[in-house]
Order: sequence, then C-alpha cells, then structure tokens
Amino acid sequence: MNRSSIFRLRPAVLLLASTFTCTVALGQVAGTLPHATAPSNAQLASPEIERRVDALLKQMTLEEKIGQLVQYNDQGFSAPTPSAGDQALAANPETKTEVDAMALAKQGRLGSMLNVIGAEKTRAFQEAAMHSRLHIPILFGADVIHGYRTIYPVPLGLAASWDTALVEDLSHMAATEATTAGVKWFYSPMVDISRDARWGRSTEGAGEDPYLGSAMARAYVRGYQGNDLSRPDHVAASVKHFAAYGAAEAGREYNTTDMSDIRLRQVYLPPYKAAVEAGAATMMSSFNALNGVPATANPYVMDEILRKEWGFNGFVVSDYTAVMELTHHGIALDAATATEKALEAGVEVDMMSHFYDTQIPRLLAEHRLSMATVDEAVRRVLRVKFALGLFEHPYAHGTEVTHAVPAHRPLVRRAAEESFVLLRNAPAGGKPVLPLGNQVKSVALIGPLADASNEMQGAWGGATQASDVVTLRQAMERRMQQHGGHVLFAHGTDILGDSATGFDAALQAARQADVVVMALGESSEMSGEAGSRAHLDLPGNQQQLLEKIAATGKPVVLLVFSGRPLVLDWAAQHVPAIMAVWFPGTEAGNALANVLFGDAAPSGKLPMSFPRAVGQEPLYYAQFPTGRPAGDADLSKPPSGGETRFVSRYIDVPNDALFPFGYGLGYTSFAYSDVRVSRGTLPLVEANRPGARSLVTVTATLTNTGKREGTEVAQLYVRNLGASVEQPVRSLKGFQRVTLKPGESRQVRFELGFPELSFYDVHSRQVVEPTHYTVWVGGSSQAREQADFDVTP
Ligand code: BGC
Repeated sequence: MNRSSIFRLRPAVLLLASTFTCTVALGQVAGTLPHATAPSNAQLASPEIERRVDALLKQMTLEEKIGQLVQYNDQGFSAPTPSAGDQALAANPETKTEVDAMALAKQGRLGSMLNVIGAEKTRAFQEAAMHSRLHIPILFGADVIHGYRTIYPVPLGLAASWDTALVEDLSHMAATEATTAGVKWFYSPMVDISRDARWGRSTEGAGEDPYLGSAMARAYVRGYQGNDLSRPDHVAASVKHFAAYGAAEAGREYNTTDMSDIRLRQVYLPPYKAAVEAGAATMMSSFNALNGVPATANPYVMDEILRKEWGFNGFVVSDYTAVMELTHHGIALDAATATEKALEAGVEVDMMSHFYDTQIPRLLAEHRLSMATVDEAVRRVLRVKFALGLFEHPYAHGTEVTHAVPAHRPLVRRAAEESFVLLRNAPAGGKPVLPLGNQVKSVALIGPLADASNEMQGAWGGATQASDVVTLRQAMERRMQQHGGHVLFAHGTDILGDSATGFDAALQAARQADVVVMALGESSEMSGEAGSRAHLDLPGNQQQLLEKIAATGKPVVLLVFSGRPLVLDWAAQHVPAIMAVWFPGTEAGNALANVLFGDAAPSGKLPMSFPRAVGQEPLYYAQFPTGRPAGDADLSKPPSGGETRFVSRYIDVPNDALFPFGYGLGYTSFAYSDVRVSRGTLPLVEANRPGARSLVTVTATLTNTGKREGTEVAQLYVRNLGASVEQPVRSLKGFQRVTLKPGESRQVRFELGFPELSFYDVHSRQVVEPTHYTVWVGGSSQAREQADFDVTP
C-alpha cells in the first residue's frame, strides 16, 4: 500500500497524572489565568448562524444529533470492541466492526467523513445526506498536509523557507485544488513543536521553535480559511495535534509526554494558540497522554485552556480512533466511559472509534451525560458547516483537479527552492563547489533518491500521482543536454538494504565525471506518522557508498533527502558540499537543478537543529542554563581534569548542534553590524501589559558582502537574565527575509512588545519582570552582534 497516498487504509484497530491539578488549582485560586472575552472566530459567532443552528437543532432526533458527532471513512470499517472486553458494548446491537457509511449518510446520521477522495465519491455520499430528512450536508475532511494534487515540500522543509507569505499562498493553492473534489476541511496545519529528530512526525511540523512555529501556523490558517470560510475555494483548518504530541518521550511515536505547565505554555502551546487566534475553525486532539491524562480526555487543555482561556468557538475532532484508545491508556475500562470522558473534556467528533454512536444513548439513559452536552457539541459542528456555506453549496465546486496543475508548478517549484538549506559549500579547485557552472560537462548522478518520483512526494503525498513528479535525473539530463554536457546516472544502492552490487557502476560513473551529485537519505516512509527512528544516520549502506565515492577525490555534492535532521558528522568533514533538501514535492527535480546550477540560490535556514550524535536528542538551541555551564571549555576533546569534566557536557561529543537552528548558507555572504536598541531602559509598568506592542525597537545593518544577489533570513534572538524563572539562553523573537544586491546594505527592524518580552512564571502567569535583556541579530541562532537594555522596576 502506498502510504504517501491519503487513500491509505489503516489497520482496523491501532493496538497498540502527575496531572495539572496543581497548576489548575494555582490558576483558579489566584484567579490569574486570563479568560477570553471574545470568541476566536467571529464568523462562527454570527447571530444569523446561531439562529439557523437553533432552528435546526430543534428538529433533530437524538440519532441525527449523534450523527453529527461521528466520522467515518468510506472503507466501511472501524475500531472493534476494545480489548478490555466491555460486556455492555458487546451486548449493544449496534456494535460491529463494520460501518455502512452510505447507509448512515442516507439516514442523516453521518456528520463528517475523512479521506474520501474524488468528486464522484464525495457527491455520492453528499447526495445521500442531502436527501435525508433534514438535508444536513456532510463535511468532507482530508489530510491535505503539503498539497492536494500539486505537492510542495513537507512542512518541515517549508518551514526552512521562513517565508510565511509563501506558505499562505501554497495553502490557498491546495484549498483551490481540493475543493474541486468536495473537500472542505483539511487536517492541517500540524503545529506540534518537535525537538527530537527521532520523532518521525517532525516532518509534518515547523520544527523546534515556538516563534517560527506560530508564524507558520498563522500562515497555514490564513491560506486555508482566508477571511471568509464560505468562499467556495476556502476550507476549514484542523489544527493538530492538540496538545504537545511532539514531546513524545524518547521520540517514540504515540509515547507519553510529561512536562511543567511553564514548558507547556512557553514552548508547546504557542503555535496552537496562534492558529486559534488566526481563526482556525477546528482542532484535532492528540494521541498522547499529557502529564498522565490522555489529550483526548484532558479537560485542562481542551476546556480550561482551549475554550476558556483562548475562547475557541470551533469544534474538536479526535484523532483516528483516539477515543477508543482511551481504553488502552487505561483511563476508561469500557467504551461508555471513554465516550463520556472524551465528550465531557470537549472532543465533539469521534473519528473512527465507533464509540459515540454506540455509547451516547446509553450514557444519556444512565444520566452520565446531559443532553445539553450533546447539544453543545452538535451546535459547534453545525456552526462550522453553516459558516462554510455547505448548506447552500454542498457539492464540489468547479472542474475537478485530478492531476498536478501546470499553473501551480512555478509556485511549488519556488517553494522547493526556498526550502533547501545549504549546509556546507567548501572550495574544490579554488572555488566553492556550488553552484555548478556551465563549464561542468559531465555530472555523475548517484543514489537511490535521484530518480525516485514517489519518494519526492514526502510523508503525506496528498492525492497526487508519482507520474506528475519531475525527478532530479530527468531535470538534470534535460539541463545538461541543453548545455552540451551529459549525466552519468547510477542508482548506487537502495535506500535500505546491504547489497553493494551497484557500487562498482557508481564508482565508474564518478571517476568519469567532472563532479558527483549524490542523492541520498531516507525514504518518505521513514518519517511521518509511526516513523520514529533510533538511528539518524544515512540508512542502509548509503554511508559506505558515500565514503567510497568521496575517496575517488572528485568534488562531491551531497543532497540529503529526509523528513528530519540526520546525523551527518562524517559528511561534514569529508564532503565539500551538502544540502538538506527534505522531500521537495512535484517539482523536486527542476527546483534542485535550478539551485545546483545557480539559476536560483539556496536561502533556507534550519527549522530544527542537526545533531552530531543521536544521543544529543532532544536537541534545541533554546536550551536552559545550568549551574555548571561548559563556558569556553573545548568540548571536542574528552575532559582532561576537574575544570573540563564537572560541567554540563558529554565526555564524547560536544553539546552543540552540528548545524544549528537558523543556520543555512547561500551563494553570497552577509554581514551584520550596528545592532542597536531604541532605548536602554523600559519601565516595568509600561512593559507589563498584554496589549503592549513596539516597546523596544531593535535595528541592525545587513550587508550583502558577496558577489551575487541573495536572500538572507535575518533573525532576532532575545535573552533575559534575572527573572524569577530561568529563561532559555536565547529565544527567537523576530525574523525577516531580505533580498539584497551585491554590496547593498539595508537596515532591518524588529519590534519587541509584551508578547516577545514576557514569559510564564511559576503561577502560569504571562509576565514581564524587571530584568536585563540581551538581543542578538544575525543569520542563525549563533548570531553574535548584540545590544542590551533593562526593564526597570
Ligand atoms: C493522524 C492524523 C490524521 C488522521 C486522519 C491520524 O492517524 O495522526 O494526523 O489527520 O489520522 O487521517
């Protein structure tokens, strides 16, 4: 089964505190947690919609109401009876593992469906629903994560562009394609912060940083929903996976998470919050337990934070069979209790568990659930349907898009170009290996990812066809022919496996060529859901092939395809040019060729740190100080005595990343100078107001010191010292993409307000305290140019 297709089937069942009581109590007692005054999405709060919801709700039977709260795919299966052996469930005549979705649709008992792809199919189900008693349309959702038919880079790659306008454009583009097939709801964006490269789903998010993650989250939501959900080419976003799924212990998929409220609020929640503030119409609950309480039944995050603090007025859908999985988590011994806990926590829609439809009647009869709770859940779903204009326009709009759209190719190509991160570009023969000049007449193109169209589509390849993809081999052959050169292609080895039968041909090609381009890395299946890895090196025997090819002495360009940071320590010492290219999408080959030959320059910056060794994970730049900082000790050498040993370090690897967050080279060079702050002191009363913006302006001069035009992502980092709670050694608080001609200088400006200066204290209050701030502006998280100011009491 091709997993990169959203048609994929799942196994029917995924067999698979210290709670927040303390912090909740603190928040409640002190009355300090701000409760939202305004609903998060104004459109969903429209009186006209409310009137229609009221009128409809009055006419609905219990069965029809429950129908709005269940979601199935068109495959006709769902989770079987939980392993706990629930007698009551087994006795329920409705209990079965096969669900006839069409029959439910005809009876008006199917509120939403997932991953039903194709206008013909959605129409068939929708017609059934529209002919049911109350004519309530079905909402069709799909995993359109990085494109529908025209595919752009995986979200981690897209985040490397640091280009929010681009993300917005791509998201809207995907919506225009998918709505032609009746899809009006995307299970995207995934905004889970990920600081552990072992976690395969790192590929689906924006990486390790909450500030960048929040900016990306907003951009996706704006692109999908625009300002008006009812437009035919707009879709509702489903922000996932709420909450803190990306903190899975040891990077192992679906694993538990456990963290302080400060960390939750400071690191993990900001992107979800940003998406909610941008008006996201729906959220998806996550699989993980958070501090002992599975997110899908966690009233602290679902209700206290999401609804009360943030004013979220959309609805929450569970993740796939996550309601059923509450029995595996051991917090519900039967299906009824799982249903009760999830619904009471605030999960309105049950994706594929087949629990809500079987259990709600019983829970109502036993007075374990109130009709008001059911009604409130139904209301939330109906509001979104009304806002989307589904009652007026239930069917797919326009001509169905069934292939990558030619007019969309330039945009996804640019996205791919912007996503590439040049990690190293050392000289060979007196000048940097990249870009390859037109004097290069023969290129050996080697590796299992050079001509692998399916792999280019990444973990969620939408509904695309591999035949739409341009591979690197195709693009390079075309290009080399145009310039009178040629490509010597050799597969070399497989992505996984240990056969070296292809090595000789690869070595022969390398020896005959002016330069070698190696396309190595992971398969798209090695990241994404259930793609956790404990080893982060090049899989199979690709490393051996790389070493043999490098030993030929030919200049080597290593293109690393992956859904996560990999350990590239050997390559960083022996291979002159290395570029992280993620999974670039439909236009992979053309984008790569453009950058390799210099028609476009790389401008990406890492959204996630690349480790030196797996043992460093979780690894992130915004680390916390320790009482034993390593200071200036040379950590590349083992400790030689007390002073170099009893510090916070490893004895066998340096602490820092091989390639840090924010890092990336281009084909020109940039210099930063003149970092200034607009004031040396800021009175606390002025700073400590949530609405305060532009309190301190940071400026710096950015100069293109190289010989060609280039785009730089200027980054602002902040640290504050002296607070009641220790703060990261630095945190990103601003960025902008700037394009400069050779020799050109420009002043970059960043505004610091309450959101940037504040942090969470031990009472979970977002505060500014009188502390000392240092700011850095530069081209990575290792920026050096700095300025300082104080917040004064
Ligand atoms: C994934 C979600 C996805 C859902 C529906 C789940 O297994 O965790 O990200 O949206 O399936 O396909």
